[in-house]
Amino acid sequence: MWLVLCLLLVLVSGKELTDEEYSRLPRLFHLDDYEACLARRGGLYCLGTFRLAPQTKDDEVYRMMVEYSKTPQHFNRTRVHRGYCVSARCPESERSERNESSRFERCVERWAQSQGLRAAPQVIEYCRTTEQARARKTTELDTPMIIFTAVVFSLLFINVVCTAYDVMTPDSKKKKKLLVAWSMRSNWRRLTAHYEDGDPRLAALTPLQGLRVFIMLLVICLHSGLFYNMLYTHNTRSFEYMMKLPIMILARNGTSLVQVFVLMSSFLLAYNLLLHSKTHPLGFHMIPKIWLNRIIRLSPLHLMTVGFAATWWPVLNDGPMWYVVESSAGACRRKFWTHVFYVNNLVNPDDQCLLQTWFLAVDMQLFLVTSVLTLLLARWRDRALRVLAVMVVASSIVNGLLAYYFEWTPMLYLMTAEHYRTRYRGVPSFKWFYASPWGSLPASLIGLFLAFLHFDLQEKGFKAENHKWLVRFYHCTIPLVFCFVISGAFIEHGTTRLLGALYVALERPIYSIICTVCLFGMVNNVDNIARRFYAWRGFHALGRMTLAALMLHWLLELSLHAASPLPLAHSYYGFTYDYVATVTLTYLLSVPFAVMVEIPFQKMFAAIFA
Ligand SMILES: *[C@@H]1O[C@H](CO)[C@@H](O)[C@H](O)[C@H]1NC(C)=O
Ligand SMILES: *[C@@H]1O[C@H](CO)[C@@H](O)[C@H](O)[C@H]1NC(C)=O
Repeated sequence: MWLVLCLLLVLVSGKELTDEEYSRLPRLFHLDDYEACLARRGGLYCLGTFRLAPQTKDDEVYRMMVEYSKTPQHFNRTRVHRGYCVSARCPESERSERNESSRFERCVERWAQSQGLRAAPQVIEYCRTTEQARARKTTELDTPMIIFTAVVFSLLFINVVCTAYDVMTPDSKKKKKLLVAWSMRSNWRRLTAHYEDGDPRLAALTPLQGLRVFIMLLVICLHSGLFYNMLYTHNTRSFEYMMKLPIMILARNGTSLVQVFVLMSSFLLAYNLLLHSKTHPLGFHMIPKIWLNRIIRLSPLHLMTVGFAATWWPVLNDGPMWYVVESSAGACRRKFWTHVFYVNNLVNPDDQCLLQTWFLAVDMQLFLVTSVLTLLLARWRDRALRVLAVMVVASSIVNGLLAYYFEWTPMLYLMTAEHYRTRYRGVPSFKWFYASPWGSLPASLIGLFLAFLHFDLQEKGFKAENHKWLVRFYHCTIPLVFCFVISGAFIEHGTTRLLGALYVALERPIYSIICTVCLFGMVNNVDNIARRFYAWRGFHALGRMTLAALMLHWLLELSLHAASPLPLAHSYYGFTYDYVATVTLTYLLSVPFAVMVEIPFQKMFAAIFA
């Protein structure tokens, strides 16, 4: 009933054009042949975005363009994106015009006139002559490139030497732990190990690995769709149509998904510390070690991918759309230091390096807070739950007030084709709420709450199976999450500022609370299909590669698409094919990253501080 209502709501909105009307709109994206253009002497290739305007007051086509653009999932048709071989299209302009970008502008204006429109430049991404294109083919090594290459070769060398040492030395007490830490053989075993027979409390956490993989797969899927907006797409109508399907509300309102990662992260931190407290007293002297441990866990892979993006990535390929990679790479280079200190989401947030790295920064920032909070509350265990509950409510209220004051809107309102195209650069609700630490603080605190609750109840010998209402609620959580996400359709078509702020304040906490009940059931071994699915052995190794997959998938897929000499062609089959290929390649490539970089650093740290 509910679902049907939602479907209807989404279906009736939005204006559609007939095929014939649609075919009268000017093409949105166009690319001339880049290579052929820049192979000729005197070639000039330019790419940019132009605003269109009608020549006469009541131009029918222009009115259709404006009307069509009003649907959020449609591109703004009053702008066109052009990659022109100016030298071939408008050869005569050369004599009168020496300035390259003005030649391009004239050329696009001439095209617009032929359509009965006028064009004014909005952004000129680049203009490139044959000589400049030739110069790009020879790469000059600079210091960052040399440093990155040296680091990669040193890591390889250490891995090979230590693996040889491990294989050739018989197992004994005298075997150097520090060297074995870098052995590929032992790290492969660690990656593929199962801990089911160990501590039952840790074994109860195995479904979390499956959950991680599942969420990572969804994140990759959501990101895959972005490329059709970020880059040039041939048949935009097919893509726009797909994004308008009622079922896509799951994607449009599904961005809270990553809150589950935040939840799990703080839950695991606090729960492990509480388990540790049974044998060792907790104290603030542990802080440096806890923080260092986290940095060693995240930084090697994080900095390697950002380092690669800042050095070798832009020179690996070329093409009309490759400028997207080059601008990301430029940001990675300018902002490398912010990635070292995990402040990349706060310093110059519009200068985006790799889209997904905001999450690592938020995770680390919240980690610093939650680790201190855990140690503090572990002293007053009897009051911990009350304090945490108050903090969750307070942080949600503060977020709501901030949202009202700064007029932040829920992400759901920002799911427009034009925002995907610009990757949310310059959108305050994205940079100051979605990708900010305070935006994820409630989820993080709820994770701590779960850890204290679970630990206390375990101490008291609590059996979840004996509480019928709890078990029933737990079985409902996954359908509930779906319903909650779908219910976003009710507010999708505009509400007041107050309701928007209320939604911002409540969406993530409600979502997190439903997920918390689900996690609580899982870690208490309440059996159901979902738990058995997530606890599947095959997920264990994949779950341990989540960080590598998070870092790599964007690089891989953007490299594939941005190198295309033609606009992308959208089709359901093609989309699925790309997605499956990206996932497979991402996880395959994650194996060497996990075995040769991520795990060795962790083991080395453990060996030094053991
Ligand atoms: C489309 O772009 C034009 C020009 O940049 C802008 O004035 C207009 O508001 C945009 N339309 C929508 C619906 O965003
Ligand atoms: C071309 O002219 C525009 C202004 O008309 C100016 O902003 C731009 O810097 C010029 N470009 C070159 C390469 O001279």
